[in-house]
Amino acid sequence: MSMIELSVNQRAVRISTEPRTNLADFVREKLDLTGTHLGCEHGVCGACTVLLDGVPARSCITYAVACEGAEVTTIEGLDEDGVTTELRAAFTREHALQCGYCTPGMLVSARDLVLRLPHADERLIRVGLSGNLCRCTGYVGIVRAVQTVIEARRARNIAPEPDGGRKVLGPVGSGRGVHRGADRPEQAPSPASEQNSPETASSVDAIPDFLPATVLTQHFTVAHPPEKVFAMFGDIAAVAACLPGASLTAPPKPERVEGAIRVRIGPIAATFQGAARVERNPADMSGRIVGIGNDRRSRSSTHGEIRYRLVAIGQGTRVELSIGYTLTGILAQVGRPALVRDLAARLIAEFAGNLDRRLPGTSTADAAPVELNGMALALGVLRGRVARWLGRFASGKDGVP
Ligand code: FES
Ligand code: FES
Repeated sequence: MSMIELSVNQRAVRISTEPRTNLADFVREKLDLTGTHLGCEHGVCGACTVLLDGVPARSCITYAVACEGAEVTTIEGLDEDGVTTELRAAFTREHALQCGYCTPGMLVSARDLVLRLPHADERLIRVGLSGNLCRCTGYVGIVRAVQTVIEARRARNIAPEPDGGRKVLGPVGSGRGVHRGADRPEQAPSPASEQNSPETASSVDAIPDFLPATVLTQHFTVAHPPEKVFAMFGDIAAVAACLPGASLTAPPKPERVEGAIRVRIGPIAATFQGAARVERNPADMSGRIVGIGNDRRSRSSTHGEIRYRLVAIGQGTRVELSIGYTLTGILAQVGRPALVRDLAARLIAEFAGNLDRRLPGTSTADAAPVELNGMALALGVLRGRVARWLGRFASGKDGVP
């Protein structure tokens, strides 16, 4: 269990929860806020939409522990909200609900549209609500309800809110809410912010700490002393050359690196571009790399952290790794923790082999990075599992007579 502190409907909450609990289950089961509905549980239908730091977010694919420090607003928290009150009345008037299952999520998304887009026409409203599905009423009444509220506010000369009431994003925010106005200081982008911008990596000045949604631990050994391994870990170009699929996009500095890594998980190929902060502690031969990156094609982003510690073992070194990450976007739906854990194990095995070969001082130029192929790695994992199972079967430890 993990203890988390966050604000829900403007109330401070401090509750322990399982790391795997999603935000929808968290607010429903721990806080009795059952207005947040679960439909597909795959980030598709929008029934579970809540506001996360003012930005509509799918609570079914957001881990509660990743919301540490965030401000969450559920439909119950909008009871006194003026726009939501207008929308509720319009939904009733226009017969925009039947069973009502989609309605909380629909209202949260519609409120965001009303606040930001005072000139939205039917087409724009349909586009804006395309992430919210209704199985029974149909969309004519819903779109009409939203349109009447927008028109009524325009008639009353109510100015739009350019950022729709969005705040500085918490750790799992989508990044779209980063305020660019003159009345607030510029904020550091979050992992997914400006994900369509090729300048993302170089424009990231601050790489914030974060609470990873998933943490994996791994270790490997190399036949070289810790001092030598630690020195090589300080050579970012050499380390990148050992990592399958990785490449640098700018000359590295001791405390900062910018680069990309290519991966293929199932049917999705992605190239995460980003930047990382490098910290090293020679006293105990440990270090930490915190990075953010995004993939334009799959519209996925990640915030990751690698911690390492080198321990002398005879003439060699045991490298202990802790890898934490939070993945958002399409890849988060296919990159289940178990699959990512297996992929990470294979990636680290390749990295360890490359590292071992390079440590005696060979040139780094001859190792062209290869794409990290999730399918190939998955097959490798499968082969490994079958081999382990057969081994247990042969030794009678599997309980099979
Ligand atoms: S339940 Fe979250 S998007 Fe469908
Ligand atoms: S009103 Fe029933 S799903 Fe939308």
